[in-house]
Amino acid sequence: MKTIIEPFRIKTVEPIRVTTHAERERLLEEAGYNLFKIPADAVVVDLLTDSGTGAMSAEQWAAVMRGDESYAGSASFYRLREAVRHLFGFDEILPVHQGRAAERILFGLLGGAGRIIPGNTHFDTTRANIEATEATALDLPVPEGLDPTSEAAFKGNLDVARLERVLHESPGRVPCVVVTITNNALGGQPVSLDNLRATRRACERASVPLFLDAARFAENAYLARERDPKLRGLDIAEVARRYFDLCDGFLLSAKKDALCNTGGLLGLRDPDLLGHARSIMVVTEGFLTYGGLAGRDLDAMARGLEEATDPVYLGYRAAVTQYLAAGLDRIDVPYVHPPGLHAVYVDAGALLPQIHKQELPGQALAIELYRAGGVRSCEVGTLLRGDGHGGPELLRLAIPRRVYTQSHIDYLLEVFAEVVQRRDRIAGYRVTSADTRLRHFTACLAPAEPQSRGAQAPAAVA
Ligand code: F0G
Repeated sequence: MKTIIEPFRIKTVEPIRVTTHAERERLLEEAGYNLFKIPADAVVVDLLTDSGTGAMSAEQWAAVMRGDESYAGSASFYRLREAVRHLFGFDEILPVHQGRAAERILFGLLGGAGRIIPGNTHFDTTRANIEATEATALDLPVPEGLDPTSEAAFKGNLDVARLERVLHESPGRVPCVVVTITNNALGGQPVSLDNLRATRRACERASVPLFLDAARFAENAYLARERDPKLRGLDIAEVARRYFDLCDGFLLSAKKDALCNTGGLLGLRDPDLLGHARSIMVVTEGFLTYGGLAGRDLDAMARGLEEATDPVYLGYRAAVTQYLAAGLDRIDVPYVHPPGLHAVYVDAGALLPQIHKQELPGQALAIELYRAGGVRSCEVGTLLRGDGHGGPELLRLAIPRRVYTQSHIDYLLEVFAEVVQRRDRIAGYRVTSADTRLRHFTACLAPAEPQSRGAQAPAAVA
């Protein structure tokens, strides 16, 4: 069959309230044009993030009922530890309330002034947690990762030659290397196993540990198996295991591939580091066998990790982003090629060339999609990454797991078509106030003054 159906039936539904144009206009103004400040019940299709927004399966809800809420030594912890041992081959785990808690613990131990933590491209919270220790977060993507039009198979890769230079030129200053699978900041692009192996060799030569930021480990494994002939025929779980076998530790937000609404994990092989991490954990997260989560969350995670590597489910994820990408092709909307699994990243800079980087083309597009049809998405450009980041100005359409159907995607495409038709008249925004760290969450914006657009003022549509 050509139709790729959602491989699930829907047992519980949440109503969607359809808002009016006037209501959305008012809400945008009240929110300071920041979509993080729009109440979720005024969003028709919410593609802000794929984090914690997925639907749990009937088996996960059944697991929730089995949750053991004992303070210490809960059965849920042992079930989760077993699932992680089986899938990732790590003996010990530290459960944490979400991914960034694992980041805070790890970089609190390894970071510090004068240190450099290189990676393929750090996600924003990872960068913030590294910088909070006064260490430098250094992005070393491969050049094709910064080119939205490149069809390269592994645009999430780390530039190993540059890493080797950094390791050589800064001896003793690099406490670890972090590789994020998939590379969320650069379009959800996968990292190849060969690239991770080469990174591992460089790390070994410099005696520097290698960590995975593994939030989307299963989607990376799926894409690697599709794009690397050497991995064909392997189970997704086997492919994922090869990645984990190459690293000394991992950080994992369970809100993505582990199909949970909250939760995270820190995995460490080094017993000394593990000991130090545990002593921080009991102070800030919770006792070692629950780490800020309820027992039921641990059981939902154990089951979610198992479901994450189902090839039928992952194939459906791939079908959704391909369907969305094909729809965008029909209305000439450029996006990061080739599409990954958790999102399609529209190249807003290319779609709205009249808007200067500093006037936030990605955010302007996000605002228009909300205004036109209540679709919420997320800018990944100058607002999120700061001035002078050097990458493209993107808009992420993240697909929550097992939540929306094909007709929601059709609706999104219809909204897009309406916005694209008047693209020449869309103008930029400027930041009026913002926090210094993770400013996109809290910033207030205002439409940019027409005069500041100067000679580049958009032409009226014929
Ligand atoms: N690492 C990556 C690659 C992520 O994408 C995220 C979160 C984190 C770490 C932090 O995990 O949210 O559980 O604390 N990404 C979300 C997103 C927020 O929208 O992409 P967390």
